[in-house]
Amino acid sequence: MSAFRIRVEGGPAFDCGANDNLVSAAERAGWQLPASCRAGACGSCEGEITAGDFVLPGRQGEGALHCGPARAVKLCRARPRSDLTLAPREIAPVDPKSRKPLAAKVLRIDRLAQDVAVLKLRFPAGVRAKFRAGQYLKVLLPDGAERCFSMANPPQANDGVELHVRQLPGGRFSDLVFGPLQPGDAVQVRMPLGEFFVRESEQALLFVAGGTGFAPVQSMVEDLLRRKVQRPITVYFGARTPAQLYPAAVARQWMEQRPSLRWVPVVSDPQPGDGWQGRTGYVHSAVLEDHPQMAGQAVYACGAPGMIEAARSGFVASGLSPDDFHCDAFVPAAEREE
Ligand SMILES: Cc1cc2nc3c(=O)[nH]c(=O)nc-3n(C[C@H](O)[C@H](O)[C@H](O)COP(=O)(O)OP(=O)(O)OC[C@H]3O[C@@H](n4cnc5c(N)ncnc54)[C@H](O)[C@@H]3O)c2cc1C
Ligand code: FES
Repeated sequence: MSAFRIRVEGGPAFDCGANDNLVSAAERAGWQLPASCRAGACGSCEGEITAGDFVLPGRQGEGALHCGPARAVKLCRARPRSDLTLAPREIAPVDPKSRKPLAAKVLRIDRLAQDVAVLKLRFPAGVRAKFRAGQYLKVLLPDGAERCFSMANPPQANDGVELHVRQLPGGRFSDLVFGPLQPGDAVQVRMPLGEFFVRESEQALLFVAGGTGFAPVQSMVEDLLRRKVQRPITVYFGARTPAQLYPAAVARQWMEQRPSLRWVPVVSDPQPGDGWQGRTGYVHSAVLEDHPQMAGQAVYACGAPGMIEAARSGFVASGLSPDDFHCDAFVPAAEREE
């Protein structure tokens, strides 16, 4: 099928096939639209289509035909059905650094919880990784497949990267991390990627993390503490069981450095034998119980797509401006559209 011409208002033009999405087609043409999960879950890519026809495929196949204009369209899902005109939040040339594989070596692998390991990678002497706290990288597997992981270290500690890897049954990369990968082994990565970073403002900061969604939050909070940014910081962390509250020791260190920092662990499925006496329920519900009025907060949420969707809709319904909700949704590689 032939390609349609996509024109960006006041910017470049590129071609996009009827089965391709606008974010990937722009990238292949050398242009970066804001995007992160590439599965319709995080909203990073939302932009306006000001003219033309397109479809947004649903999970069960193709959805309804939309005839432009339309606001807040997830451009990572949109497929053209005619030439289009777009007004994205931004567009920039692809950063050539993020395309170039970087050679790293495994420094160490430590277990943080039964199903979470921290993988520390080191770059060759003199090589420094430039990234913003909260961004992610792609690990390149030998057959060219890629896997996304967020940096957990702050950008000031950049002679390597620290990744929190959750073990997934049958997961190609996580099976290596929990299996044969050893210190000294080579790992190739591409970075930096993503739109999840703290925006400058005076607003109070509310971080909400589930599972290994804590990784980019750790990078962001440590960056804020190192830069002595004085905004109020609250961190909610959700886990299914108390044994999965792996960031507790790191949070204690933060509170020693910044006694005003609030750390709120929330367990969704405690068992009678766990002895858990803290907050229970879903992490986004705990945030809403404590903040019936969310207006004025700056929220940074990261974790499973379901948690992100529940947090976004609950917080916006409680007065949060959609512009103050920033997130990364940890969708599995198989669900990403690249
Ligand atoms: C921006 C971003 C940042 C991320 N950061 C992190 C991070 O810091 N830490 C972290 O642990 N994860 C993170 N993730 C999630 C991680 O990239 C994925 O879970 C990835 O797929 C793991 O790779 P793997 O090789 O271990 O498992 P995979 O080989 O990708 O397999 C993952 C699991 O998905 C199953 N699966 C196969 N096909 C499908 C399908 N069609 N739909 C759903 N599931 C399927 C597999 O059976 C397996 O159980 C991030 C994701 C994104 C998008
Ligand atoms: S919704 Fe499009 S990149 Fe996440």
